[in-house]
Amino acid sequence: MHSQLPALINKFTVDSDGIYCQVLSDISSSQSVEKSLRERIAADSYDNYLQVISNSHSIPVMDCEVDRFLLNMPHGALILDIGGCWGWHWRHLARKRPDVGVVIMDFVRSNLIHAKNVLGDLVGRQVVLIHADATALPFVIDDGFSGFDGIWTVQTFQHIPDYNKALREAYRVLKPHSGLFANYSLNVQPPVRWLYRLFGRNYITKGDVPGAFWLARASEEQKMFIEEVFGSKVSERWSEILFTPELHFLFPGRAGSRLGQLDSLLSNNFGFLRCLARQHSFHCRKQ
Ligand SMILES: C[S@@+](CC[C@H](N)C(=O)[O-])C[C@H]1O[C@@H](n2cnc3c(N)ncnc32)[C@H](O)[C@@H]1O
Repeated sequence: MHSQLPALINKFTVDSDGIYCQVLSDISSSQSVEKSLRERIAADSYDNYLQVISNSHSIPVMDCEVDRFLLNMPHGALILDIGGCWGWHWRHLARKRPDVGVVIMDFVRSNLIHAKNVLGDLVGRQVVLIHADATALPFVIDDGFSGFDGIWTVQTFQHIPDYNKALREAYRVLKPHSGLFANYSLNVQPPVRWLYRLFGRNYITKGDVPGAFWLARASEEQKMFIEEVFGSKVSERWSEILFTPELHFLFPGRAGSRLGQLDSLLSNNFGFLRCLARQHSFHCRKQ
């Protein structure tokens, strides 16, 4: 097992299926509708995980984003994936970074069972799965644990109504003077919003998606709050420029798609084609 994981997980209870847990209080009750929705989705069984995932994430683009993030991780790094769901971002970890450990946490326990299926024997060696809530992270910074080298969170903070609380928690558990935070959220896409309006559909920038979840797309307000908490400059990035599931343009997101590979090359920090980008991410280092 990754050298830092045993000390980290010995404070948790572990179930017979190998999933570690924190007792969840009613902290996440503000997301109870979302939790029920995600539990219903996780109750199904799936033969082809990547096919299902590629309906809402671009596999080629996010694989490249993971590679970029790993390049910034020191030898032996420990990463926390908040809202890691099925854990698919880390499926190539043994080949790409056998020295790195990843803690995947999610507040829907059944998602972590799927993560076990996706990640196989990486779980228990380089990866541990923890059932916990992003707004009350169950990690104590003390003599035995100095914090995570990286926090990776994809399309999760956008669903947490108390974004600021989740952000403060992320900051708390990052290693001082080096810890890297990367948060990917849905972007505001003016052309898609215009098409939604044309067809009488509701395009939500910040608010409840009825029967589903809270959604707050990436915003200047979030960026300013990250800069305030971290006391350092946020760098911005735009990705998933071709992949547009909202308009049923899905095939660039499929594993191995050539168009998806082109899409990954279009991801950028300069705002190029930003109005088309489906994702907008914020990256910041703890001082
Ligand atoms: C849109 S999915 C993204 C999943 C994953 N990050 C990915 O890229 O495939 C959001 C995930 O965040 C989890 N989540 C949402 N709110 C959470 C919270 N407060 N604490 C922990 N997990 C949460 C959900 O259960 C779900 O698995």
